[in-house]
Amino acid sequence: MNLIDGNEVAKVIVAELTEKVSALHNSKPCVNFVRVGDDPASISYVRKKEKTAREIGMESRLQVYPESITQSELLQKIDLLNSDSEVHGVLIQAPLPDHIDERIIFNRVLPRKDVDGFSSTNVGKVFQELDDAFVPCTPAGILELIKRTEIETTGKHVVVLGRSLIVGKPTGILFLAKDIPGNATVTFCHSQSSKVSEHTLKADILIAAIGKPLFVQPEMVKEGATVIDVGINRIPDLSKKSHFRLVGDVDFDSVAPKASFITPVPGGVGPMTVAMLMANTLKAFLLTLE
Ligand code: GUN
Repeated sequence: MNLIDGNEVAKVIVAELTEKVSALHNSKPCVNFVRVGDDPASISYVRKKEKTAREIGMESRLQVYPESITQSELLQKIDLLNSDSEVHGVLIQAPLPDHIDERIIFNRVLPRKDVDGFSSTNVGKVFQELDDAFVPCTPAGILELIKRTEIETTGKHVVVLGRSLIVGKPTGILFLAKDIPGNATVTFCHSQSSKVSEHTLKADILIAAIGKPLFVQPEMVKEGATVIDVGINRIPDLSKKSHFRLVGDVDFDSVAPKASFITPVPGGVGPMTVAMLMANTLKAFLLTLE
């Protein structure tokens, strides 16, 4: 079993981006975060993104709004960012409160500032495999891990567990692309799929993105498969000071001996998401110079 160390790969990408940003003279890329409410996971993700932007020498801004903000008020705030020429990337941290329709919010971000890649325009650009598409950060991070680990995808069978807009659907589409990494045969499974194990057992590359702690067990995995765990679940653990521990969607300890490559949680896909957001922000900035 080989561990895919997302922290290490992300560090290399951050170093590459730092060099590119330091070579820019007149202005620096700026990413603007918007957070609604005080979800502890969202607070920590946004902090991590701000810290990485600083490390690279990019600018970042943050607006925090209360849970009570209305959808139309939030849309107005996005309009202000869309028309602010000093802001190159706009990221609305999900999840948003239930009274707000995330898709309407994501679709309001100008496509050329949509560094998360969640707008319908960007989803279409990813389908069309256009060069100016912003690939959503977690799927982009997964493909980058596969590419830099030199795992073959052409003709391989990729099984994606999950069908979210943020991870599952775009990840499968990227593996389908007429490109390397890509050229794979892709199966999607989700909460309504039957006989999930029959599919997962055929996977050369298994992507778990369903948010169910320790869902993937060794009897569901083919010997020698690559296993990518996107889950970040907090489960109670009274032996910890915080009273919880982070686990993925994969039961790492029992699955790892069967896998040829596997990502840990934490330290697998998570750091890659942040690195790819920074890559997208630099791309958004460079597009403004064209
Ligand atoms: N919530 C969970 N992952 C993400 C992400 O990649 N971007 C945003 N905006 N929200 C998220």
